[in-house]
Amino acid sequence: DATSTRSPLTIRLCQPRGFCAGVDRAIQIVVLALKKYGAPVYVRHEIVHNRYVVEGLQNLGAVFIEELSEIPPEHRASPVVFSAHGVPKSVPEDARERELFYLDATCPLVSKVHKQAMRHQRLGRHVLLIGHAGHPEVIGTMGQLPEGAVTLIETDADVANFKPADPSALGFVTQTTLSVEDTAGLLKALQERFPQMQAPAAESICYATTNRQEAVKETAPGADLFLIVGAPNSSNSRRLVEVAERAGAKMSLLVQRAAEIPWDEIGRISTLGLSAGASAPEIIVDEIINAFRDRFDVTVELAVTATETEDFPVMRVLRDVELTAA
Ligand code: F3S
Repeated sequence: DATSTRSPLTIRLCQPRGFCAGVDRAIQIVVLALKKYGAPVYVRHEIVHNRYVVEGLQNLGAVFIEELSEIPPEHRASPVVFSAHGVPKSVPEDARERELFYLDATCPLVSKVHKQAMRHQRLGRHVLLIGHAGHPEVIGTMGQLPEGAVTLIETDADVANFKPADPSALGFVTQTTLSVEDTAGLLKALQERFPQMQAPAAESICYATTNRQEAVKETAPGADLFLIVGAPNSSNSRRLVEVAERAGAKMSLLVQRAAEIPWDEIGRISTLGLSAGASAPEIIVDEIINAFRDRFDVTVELAVTATETEDFPVMRVLRDVELTAA
């Protein structure tokens, strides 16, 4: 009997995990746009950093592009959706010039950071953006202000090397999906060097990032393995892997699908921590739990550290479809 030989495994399943309100809204925008306007609906950049989500939307008729110039002139009337990560100001400007119909799925919490950066600048401050070079959100936030108005701070060396024209006129914002702990460290170093640096009116790291990191931190101590469901280009998912390791999980890995679980490396474990990044759908969490059920005698323990009630409405132009779809 195979069942009796399976060893027991406790899965500590983090809650909250997975989709945040911004990701949920962005996906809804594409789905509702397809319903209302029909295919193709263009999406500039991966709508959220998850291949499963992107492929699902492709099957419904979404066409993913990197630049607006890829939209053929005969499809100019088809909507183009901007991703949840936000876009530089030049993108909607370019869309208007090309006479495209665009729907901006930028997460409202990213837009809030954009506004805070613009406010710093309006008040005569040079803006410091704490974030990861090359991430679309960072490109979008930097692109709210003219070239040279924002300096990206990624490491302690960046803090040490930064030489402002006027140290008394600085303001900072951060990417929404950073490590709470690392960011606190960088900010402390910045504040020590530039005591007059101004904070934004509200914390830039979003509720979803904070809550997912907190849940992993609570659950990780003593876990033989911690799995985070997420994509390698998903910033918030990668941070969760680091948080798990620091908080005391013996091993911590990022996986996109159950097929990526390295069973040989894992070997015999008795406690597994499990969570998912803000762009990872719940169906993959289920897939992973089932893959463990095939090999272990699994007990799932829900580790609840917060309750989330955030819900971001889609733009007005899509609300009539939303009603008929319900
Ligand atoms: Fe928005 Fe935070 Fe999600 S900024 S898209 S709620 S990870």
